[in-house]
Amino acid sequence: MSAGPPIDELHLADAPHLETSIPGPESDRLIERQKRIESNAVAYPRSVPIALDAAKGSTVRDVDGNIFLDFFAGIGVLNVGHSNPYVLEGVHEQTEKITHTIDFPTETRLDFIEALDGIAPGGLKGNNKVVFGGPSGSDAIEGSIKLAKHNTGRTGLLAFEGAYHGSTGGALSLTAGKKYKKGYEPLLPGVVHAPYPSTDEECAHALDHIQTVLEDPYSGKENPAGIWVEPIQGEGGVVVPPQEFLPGLRDLADDNDVMLIFDEIQSGFGRSGKWFASEWSGVTPDAMTMAKGIGGAGLPLGAVMYHEKFDTWGPGGHIGTFRGNVPAMRGGIRAIEYIEEHDLLAHARDLGTYLRDRLAEATDPATTEVRGEGLFIGVEMWDEDGNPLSDTVKAIQKYCYEHGVLVWSAGRYGNVLRLLPALVMTKAQAEAGMDIITAGIEAHT
Ligand SMILES: Cc1ncc(COP(=O)(O)O)c(C=O)c1O
Repeated sequence: MSAGPPIDELHLADAPHLETSIPGPESDRLIERQKRIESNAVAYPRSVPIALDAAKGSTVRDVDGNIFLDFFAGIGVLNVGHSNPYVLEGVHEQTEKITHTIDFPTETRLDFIEALDGIAPGGLKGNNKVVFGGPSGSDAIEGSIKLAKHNTGRTGLLAFEGAYHGSTGGALSLTAGKKYKKGYEPLLPGVVHAPYPSTDEECAHALDHIQTVLEDPYSGKENPAGIWVEPIQGEGGVVVPPQEFLPGLRDLADDNDVMLIFDEIQSGFGRSGKWFASEWSGVTPDAMTMAKGIGGAGLPLGAVMYHEKFDTWGPGGHIGTFRGNVPAMRGGIRAIEYIEEHDLLAHARDLGTYLRDRLAEATDPATTEVRGEGLFIGVEMWDEDGNPLSDTVKAIQKYCYEHGVLVWSAGRYGNVLRLLPALVMTKAQAEAGMDIITAGIEAHT
């Protein structure tokens, strides 16, 4: 075995382990210092008040020496765990050699593009091109918008209610959350948001609605350049659409000469137990956006992979000074090797089933829905009258960090507990974490 140590050797020992109450005094001190000097836009420590010191695998240590089991992995970035030694070894070799190359070819850059082709879904394999712009998911979305406009000559965009596609102008136009847009509109013109279905009935309705938008001569707008869709909606609450949804979109896009773009920034790179979540439906998109985990070690990197027939733009079609972070590319290659060598897609599927079973046992199906694929998991909660239980989810999150487990939330009303653990989390860690998470659920429902 060449690709690094087995997953049970990747973590800080003895997690969870608490030295202080949370937040401890050192975390308090750093959070206060941060408040004085950093922007009011800082968000995460408001929900989980810790300052970080070190992390390995699925464990994170704060500055007070408390060790947490990490069920959100840098918000779905650290798919091979924090500081994976096999990935870091490759990154270090690369940083010793050369770090910034704009888009001049290097062995690493080309090896990374080939490695992405090796894991490309369906009809993209062997038939794709890859573009890098800025090193973020939002920038990958910007690139995909330009690609669709360039190829169709149209400017409108179709996205979905509940969607999150990022925070820059074009990406924010596709994002559905009003809280992110408040005060910043107008953004891009001609954007339509269609319903994102979670039941068969909603699916039929959503596809009918999109058919009307695209095919009714009096639907109100010129047809869009593309349809942007998360194959599993993340921020919207880990919503897995019915099986017919993505094939239905594929047919509508084909019939109307509209590009179909899958946003795999959160759902991709093994998160759902397949390399890309599109594989659960067998539908190949025309283009897909990637970021978050693809830099392996949490190094920033964003990319768009698209069918080569859309490679019609010229030099500078999508650009950026950091169009290709070579250490991140080396990290990405190593992460792919690590995932393959340790069979982590199968592990993610098995562990995901275990986590969902434990969550289902601890909750009442009348007021809770447990859903997801692989290690992309959501638990939606509402009361007996159907009102969303956002405060309950916040209270569970607090209970969890106070007991040494980090979890996150999602959903249109913040009433979905979101779990995005690294693919290297062990069964023993999952069991220990679930004991705390389910106790938190039971204490607050
Ligand atoms: C589905 C999806 N698309 C796009 C983005 C934006 O990526 P970034 O925050 O790297 O700009 C995110 C980030 O959470 C995301 O989940």
